[in-house]
Amino acid sequence: MRHSHYILAFFFTLILTTQARHHHHTKHKHSSHSNNNDNNSNNQSYPPSPSPSSGISVPPVAAPGGHDNEAPSPSPSDDDGSEIFDVRTFGAIGDGIADDTNSFKMAWDSACQSESAINVVLVPRGFSFMVQSTIFTGPCQGGLVLKVDGTLMPPDGPESWPNNTSRRQWLVFYRINNMSLQGSGVIDGRGQNWWDLPCKPHKGPNGTTLPGPCDSPVALRFFMSSNLSVQGLRIKNSPQFHFRFDGCKSVRVDSIFITSPALSPNTDGIHIENTNDVRIYNSVISNGDDCVSIGTGCYDVDIKNITCGPSHGISIGSLGNHNSRACVSNITVRESTIKGSDNGVRIKTWQGGSGSVSKVTFSKIHMESVRNPIIIDQFYCLSKDCSNKSSAVFVSDIVYSNIKGTYDIRHPPMRFACSDSVPCTNLTLSDIELLPAQGDLFNDPFCWNAYGNSETLTIPPVSCLIEGLPQSLPGNDLSRC
Ligand SMILES: *[C@@H]1O[C@H](CO)[C@@H](O)[C@H](O)[C@H]1NC(C)=O
Ligand SMILES: *[C@@H]1O[C@H](CO)[C@@H](O)[C@H](O)[C@H]1NC(C)=O
Ligand SMILES: *[C@@H]1O[C@H](CO)[C@@H](O)[C@H](O)[C@H]1NC(C)=O
Ligand SMILES: *[C@@H]1O[C@H](CO)[C@@H](O)[C@H](O)[C@H]1NC(C)=O
Ligand SMILES: *[C@@H]1O[C@H](CO)[C@@H](O)[C@H](O)[C@H]1NC(C)=O
Ligand SMILES: *[C@@H]1O[C@H](CO)[C@@H](O)[C@H](O)[C@H]1NC(C)=O
Ligand SMILES: *[C@@H]1O[C@H](CO)[C@@H](O)[C@H](O)[C@H]1NC(C)=O
Ligand SMILES: *[C@@H]1O[C@H](CO)[C@@H](O)[C@H](O)[C@H]1NC(C)=O
Ligand SMILES: *[C@@H]1O[C@H](CO)[C@@H](O)[C@H](O)[C@H]1NC(C)=O
Ligand SMILES: *[C@@H]1O[C@H](CO)[C@@H](O)[C@H](O)[C@H]1NC(C)=O
Ligand SMILES: *[C@@H]1O[C@H](CO)[C@@H](O)[C@H](O)[C@H]1NC(C)=O
Repeated sequence: MRHSHYILAFFFTLILTTQARHHHHTKHKHSSHSNNNDNNSNNQSYPPSPSPSSGISVPPVAAPGGHDNEAPSPSPSDDDGSEIFDVRTFGAIGDGIADDTNSFKMAWDSACQSESAINVVLVPRGFSFMVQSTIFTGPCQGGLVLKVDGTLMPPDGPESWPNNTSRRQWLVFYRINNMSLQGSGVIDGRGQNWWDLPCKPHKGPNGTTLPGPCDSPVALRFFMSSNLSVQGLRIKNSPQFHFRFDGCKSVRVDSIFITSPALSPNTDGIHIENTNDVRIYNSVISNGDDCVSIGTGCYDVDIKNITCGPSHGISIGSLGNHNSRACVSNITVRESTIKGSDNGVRIKTWQGGSGSVSKVTFSKIHMESVRNPIIIDQFYCLSKDCSNKSSAVFVSDIVYSNIKGTYDIRHPPMRFACSDSVPCTNLTLSDIELLPAQGDLFNDPFCWNAYGNSETLTIPPVSCLIEGLPQSLPGNDLSRC
């Protein structure tokens, strides 16, 4: 069942709404929890396990009538119906060394319980706050804004990460509706010591990769939440993914800047899965893995005006791992630039999966020195010894239109490697112009079991697509998605 609420006004109407403030039912319940379940099993969909946080008392919110005791109280901000909860009012020091976790939890809890229309947890400019792995839990009484104008960072690396908090996630927002993360500050994931762990690729002695648990925290994770907006922030050097949205609905990301080194492992910019109604606009991402990655269960995703690079490009996948079913549809990537990246626009699936990827449009994309500007890889495999299987995630109705620029001649500019058993169908190419970034070696496009057509002449010409439709199609798979 599809829910395509078109919420254009989204949060900003909310911010402008003038609403009377109510202070009466102050609820003394905790809504933030540290995750103390440090389980090293590699389950990516591991949900935060909220457990009661340890006896932190919530300061009372200002009583009706205004006059007050010593407890920190939120300051009203002008007449726009919003209330400010400055973390420093709750005891945060902001010297970059002190552990400000509890102050953040208290500020969050108070804001979350406030019935004002908008409750702003303020991370003020000019300070640097160190906060440990924390789950900020909703639902909240009113809209919530986390405004980061200062610097926010986790403990520095695995050695200083507390043993009793999760190593898979740093800041988690769980079961929250109508939340905005914004501000002019910086979120610094301090990833270097995580990237250098000997279990990371080639970081062991003499360039080896040592086995062993290798969990590293996602910087910002939104889980089972809706109506989310992330705007205007800078985020850098995450130990792992910078943003991960899973099980979310109605997500707007606008004008954010993500930076991590090109060789930082697994530092995807924005990862989404089981999430729908997503818009990612006007953002600049350079990192060591996918710029944006779209996992299973995503639909109605619009990506516009983003600049990626260096990165591993924009990826749908990888899907179908461990013979799983994956469904992805209605994804648009447009008016964007990808430069100095390992891939441009990529669909990657493992052998043995099922389900489908359909109705994907890549249009008006500018490539600069990209290794595989256009690629479908249905043989995705990390170990090089994956066997071919008789099922695969079905790929169909993919449009590539107006994709221009240069490619790195070490790889073919277009590669459509589809499964033997489940061909790709209805691939449409138009206005493709890809030239070698240097040299004139011409790599021919590669196709394997790929059906579709070029609507215009392409550069380089593609003659390997098979016209029409294959004899048999995995109809059941499609209808079950
Ligand atoms: C972790 O341990 C520290 C020190 O013992 C304690 O203060 C903190 O509350 C613990 N955190 C959790 C989430 O259990
Ligand atoms: C971690 O997860 C595994 C698999 O789900 C489970 O068997 C194990 O008991 C868990 N360990 C802890 C400490 O929760
Ligand atoms: C991952 O965790 C979820 C939720 O606890 C569970 O349903 C799923 O079976 C787990 N997957 C793996 C591969 O362990
Ligand atoms: C948040 O969303 C819910 C629907 O999930 C809505 O009922 C509520 O009014 C919204 N809150 C605010 C403050 O707009
Ligand atoms: C975590 O535990 C390890 C091994 O017990 C210890 O060496 C390390 O100092 C601990 N880290 C912290 C931050 O307490
Ligand atoms: C690393 O390589 C050097 C030179 O080849 C060798 O002497 C040394 O034993 C190697 N160290 C390990 C841990 O393999
Ligand atoms: C999202 O926020 C808008 C505006 O506050 C509200 O009308 C709508 O009900 C919310 N939707 C969801 C799914 O929470
Ligand atoms: C595209 O995004 C960039 C970076 O945020 C911004 O400077 C530019 O104005 C945006 N372009 C359009 C047409 O919105
Ligand atoms: C596809 O997704 C867009 C949002 O990106 C949405 O506006 C549109 O309604 C969706 N189309 C269908 C057919 O659901
Ligand atoms: C899988 O199939 C492809 C296409 O037929 C072939 O190129 C590849 O060598 C096969 N891989 C294995 C491991 O059999
Ligand atoms: C091929 O894909 C395009 C774009 O999604 C769609 O409009 C068209 O109906 C598809 N054609 C067939 C024959 O399914």
